[in-house]
Order: sequence, then structure tokens, then C-alpha cells
Amino acid sequence: MDGAKIATLIKDLFDLETPVTLTVPAAEFGDYATNIALQLAGRLKLNPREVAEQLAEKLRASGDYSEVTVAGPGFINLRISARSLARRLEDNWSEHYGENSDGAGKTVVVEYPSPNMAKPYSVGHLRPGNQGWAAKRLMEASGWKVITDNHLGDYGAPFGIWVTGFLKFSSMTKLEKDGVYELGRVYIATKKALKDEEELGGHELADDVQAWLLKLEQGDDEAVHYSQLFNEISLKHIHEVMGRLRIATDYELGEAFFAPRGKSIVQDLLKKGIAKQNDDGSVIVPLDDYGFDVPLLVQKSNGAALYATTDLATLLYRENEWHPERVIYAVGAEQQFYFQQLFALAKKLGIKTELIHLWFGAIDQLNEDGTREKMSSRKGVVLMEELLDEAEKRAGEVVRGRQVSDEDMKRIALGAIKFSDFTADRRTNILFDWDNIFALTGFSGPYVQYAAVRVNRILSLNGPAAVELAEKYNYEPEKSLLIKLIEYPKIVRMSANELEPHKIASFLYELARELNRYYETTPVANGDVSDFEKQARLGLLEKVAHVFEHGLSLLGIEVPSAM
Ligand code: ARG
Repeated sequence: MDGAKIATLIKDLFDLETPVTLTVPAAEFGDYATNIALQLAGRLKLNPREVAEQLAEKLRASGDYSEVTVAGPGFINLRISARSLARRLEDNWSEHYGENSDGAGKTVVVEYPSPNMAKPYSVGHLRPGNQGWAAKRLMEASGWKVITDNHLGDYGAPFGIWVTGFLKFSSMTKLEKDGVYELGRVYIATKKALKDEEELGGHELADDVQAWLLKLEQGDDEAVHYSQLFNEISLKHIHEVMGRLRIATDYELGEAFFAPRGKSIVQDLLKKGIAKQNDDGSVIVPLDDYGFDVPLLVQKSNGAALYATTDLATLLYRENEWHPERVIYAVGAEQQFYFQQLFALAKKLGIKTELIHLWFGAIDQLNEDGTREKMSSRKGVVLMEELLDEAEKRAGEVVRGRQVSDEDMKRIALGAIKFSDFTADRRTNILFDWDNIFALTGFSGPYVQYAAVRVNRILSLNGPAAVELAEKYNYEPEKSLLIKLIEYPKIVRMSANELEPHKIASFLYELARELNRYYETTPVANGDVSDFEKQARLGLLEKVAHVFEHGLSLLGIEVPSAM
């Protein structure tokens, strides 16, 4: 941008057309430097130093730079003026500041959080929700048309385990009382009983499980009744938890919806010779032509559908119904190989859609001896509702003694939990540590939320600003803030291109830190400040407030009204 402007000055001055590239010198010399005078001297038959001086004079007159110096044989160093940064920000400003139209209205399907039914929602599905939601928001901010789908895990062997276990260990009374948590207990108890039985060489219980599965396949009334009952309880619970997490999807097409379709697609692939039947009746799709030694198993020997069978149908369904340009699956790192195989299968079927496995590491916790391991509790899993309850309790402690509504407390609790998901590249494991995620002085959600709340309070006490861009004000104290704000749209674009929301989190943290430094040196509304300075500063803070609100919303985090 500055290069082109300087080229115009050169044209006016010397009647020469030349591209001008700028380099970034050591900070003590300026923000930019150019050796264009050295390059032009020969053509102009002038001393390079003289060319540089003439050009420097024009650059000073432009008002874009606070300092223009000529160094050595004819280098020009430029320090950009805060005023021109303010003007640049104003020129690019709109209520959609930060967003772009790279997606050009193309359709993307984003799939999250896809929990498994009839088990209580555990922290295992926290990252799929957080990362999936951020992907959805980043795609929206980049001009894509986004369709979201919750790919529920509502099919397969567990059903047999539940009915068998329910009849043996539970009752309607217990189920009515504890809902999905009773189903969770039944599941664990039955798994244990099955293991014990196997060790003793028995198979009565195991046979029961298979029998119930078969009955369900055949549409037996009692089996269907149980399946519906458990699903209803489970779905209600999933919706409650998603509600607390403040995430939602447009569709909820689970594995069970796709299983029958998948089975008939497998028949079709067999006919076309793409799939092959083994002697035991199971069906595979060889993928050696796509670089995989391991084929994808798409049907069990007893004819039942598998995870891959349902995904096969899901792929084709989305193609036919939604015609997406891109599909994003927010699923953990442990399924990487599976998705590579699935995407190879898609290619083999001629699907051209860009398929992305948006994977992420596990959530670790610190043991007492300082080692890290995958987050768990004595019961095996950490329940999402318990995590949220604890987070709300801790949010309450953070704001103790202040007037903070329940609603704000929930925003702080979610801000802390979600932000921690974005404190490092998603591919790394994250360390879940209660003290860190609520640290009001660290790289945390509450730290950024607090900065946003503080700006909003200043604005509500003094705003709205009377001017957008103050012509008489130099903006020097605000220079670093201006540089950050100008950077924001680039950060959003980068973050969306790589699906790396942690870049937004780092940016927001730096902005919050910059803002705190600013308050220490510059009075905004109180103290020794003239009205026109005050208006100029408030105008800038309005933009800071917008960027906080927008950036946090990309991470699924809200700004509390007080904290
Ligand atoms: N329910 C699965 C799980 O919890 C995730 C589903 C991922 N999506 C898919 N299309 N396979 O592991």
C-alpha cells in the first residue's frame, strides 16, 4: 500500500514509472525502509543522496509519516504516523470489520459435536463442540454458507448392552429418576458383568446382548420400544448439555438414520465391483489404489452396518442434498487414520468435495506427582455437567463480592473453559488446569473478557464518541492499539484458512495486554484530558470493543455485561 503511494510520488517528481518495495528495518530506524533512490540515481543521472533528499521532502509533506530520514548513501527510513494509521483504520471500517467474502457464498457443512447416545455427555466431546463451533463461525466470517450437522452416535452394539443391563440391573423407577445417568451406570455395570462372564467361560449375557440387537434389526416391538425410550432420554440430555455449552446445529442426522441407507449403498458398490465380499460374508472396499494397505470394512459378516457404512451413506447424502464445496468433520486425533481411509473412499467414488478432518489432541490433566494424563475421574469419565457446574462455581469465586448476574457468571464459566481450548494449536493436547483457565492475569478467557468489559464500561459511562476520526488529534499514544486493530482482518483470514482459531485467541490476548498498557499511560476520560482528546480516544475504544466482541464470538464466547 505504501509502496504504491511512493511510486506515485516518484512519478510526479521525476516522471518515472517504477515499482517500490518496502523493507522493515531495525525498529530504531523506522517502520519501513526503501533503497529506491539508489536504484533510480543512475537513470536520473543524479547523486543518490540527492534523489533521496528530494523524495524525502515529498514524503514529509504527505503527512503519512511522523519521521522521514535519509541515511547512508541514500536509504530512506520511514516512521508511519499514527494519524495515517487511524485514517487507514477508518477507511476500512464497517460494522462487519474483520470479516471477508473469500467463501463467496459457497456451501460448507460443519459437523460437531457428534456425541454418543445413551451415555452421559462427557468431556470427551468438549473439544469437538468448541473446535466445531469455531470452524462454523470462522467460515461464516469468511462469507461461506454454513450448514451444521450433529452426527449422533446412536447406532450399534451398545443398544443390546443397555436392554440386557436394564432388565437385569435397573428399573423404570430408577430410569425415571436419573435418566441418562442411570443408563450410564447400567452400561458400565453390564460391561463389567460381560467381562466377568467371559472370564468364567460363560456366554448367557453375551447371547442376550446379541439377541436384542437382532430383534432391533428385525423391528421387534419391544426392542423398538426400548430403543425409542433410551434415545428420547438421551437426546433430551444431549440438548440440555449443548444448551449449557451454547452450541447448536441445523441438523441432527445420526448414524441410525444412515445405517439402512449405508447397507443398500454397499450392495450397490458390490454390483459395481468397487466393494468386495469376503468368504465370511463381510464386505470391504480395497484402497490400495489410493495408497492404503488396509481396506475399509463396510459391512460385518452378519450383514450388520458399521461406523464406516453409516459414514459412507452420510457422505453421499450430503452430496445429494446440500451440494457442499467443503465438509469439515470436528473429530479427535485418534480417528485420523479412519478419516484418511474414508476420504480415500470418497475419491474412489468420484466425490470432488474438499473433505477436512478437523482434528485435535486430547484434554490432559495434571496428576499430583506432576505428570500428565488424559483427563478422567475415578469413575472413568469426567461428566460435562459436572465440569460446567464446577466452572460456574469458580466463576462465582472470581467475581465474589461484586454485583454479577447468574447470566454473566455462566458467560465467565464458559469463557474460561472454551478459551483454554484455543490457547495452543488444536493439534496439541491441552492441559486442563482450573487455576490457569480462570487466571485473571494470564492467557485466559476471563482475562480477555475482563478487558472487554472494562472498555464497555468506559464507553457506557462516557460514550458514544462524538467523532469517528478526529482530524486534529495525532493518535500517537494509541499507535500500538491502531496497529493491532489494523491487523485483525488478516488474523481472521489466516485463522479461517488454516482452521486455527488459536490465532484469534492469541490476538485477543495481545490486544487486551496492549489495552492495559495503554490505560497505564493515557487518561481516556478522567484526569488531564481535553474534550477533543477524549472524543478521539473514545472513538478508538469503540472499535476496540467491536473487535473484542467479534473475536470472542468466533470462539463461541460472550462478553459479560459486568464482572
Ligand atoms: N460419535 C463419534 C465419536 O464420538 C464421532 C462421529 C464423528 N463423525 C463421523 N462422521 N464419523 O467418536
